[in-house]
Amino acid sequence: MDVSEQTAHGIAERAKFREMKEGTKEDWAIIGGEYREFAKGLPDRVLEHLKLLDGDFGGFPVCRLEHSLQTATRAHRDGRSEQYVVMALLHDIGDTLGSYNHPEVGASIIKPFVTEEIHWICQNHGAFQGYYYFHFLGMDQNAREKFRDNPHFEACREFCEKYDQAAFDPDYESEPLEFFEPMVRRVMEKPLASMYKAALESEAA
Ligand SMILES: [Fe+2]
Ligand SMILES: [Fe+2]
Repeated sequence: MDVSEQTAHGIAERAKFREMKEGTKEDWAIIGGEYREFAKGLPDRVLEHLKLLDGDFGGFPVCRLEHSLQTATRAHRDGRSEQYVVMALLHDIGDTLGSYNHPEVGASIIKPFVTEEIHWICQNHGAFQGYYYFHFLGMDQNAREKFRDNPHFEACREFCEKYDQAAFDPDYESEPLEFFEPMVRRVMEKPLASMYKAALESEAA
């Protein structure tokens, strides 16, 4: 296999180790520099992935991208914060790869950039959304009750009631994805918390 790679910046440098335990400071300076550049592309990757929901109806009256845009538009027009609106936009982004646990996928993506409550809403919206349909599928409509004592219960109930369960109207005029792009970029510009924070902040050697 080639050890070098032609990139826009010339020949890419690569670490020399074959096992991580052979790694050196120089190796990690290379990887750290690449990581910082790669991390900056997160909003682009997220927005591209969100587009995979376009045209995916799954039997619903609107496709999953329109549902996402409509949820975010409703939250935005109701005066919610950018973090909240971005969560609303991305709350179902996990439908593609998390077919059995999609709320957790979206929640993990936004976790470094939002408050604990906004993260919690995304992570648990599935059970709360179920209030509107679980009983039609032989499931427990009140599955959300297991969270009744959680401080974020009301916030999650409100998200589903006002925005998520309400966002299936084919006649609603949602904002386009481009409208939300600057918000996604601003919210994802810098993590509020990440186990890799120090590496992100250190200068490339
Ligand atoms: Fe969902
Ligand atoms: Fe949803």
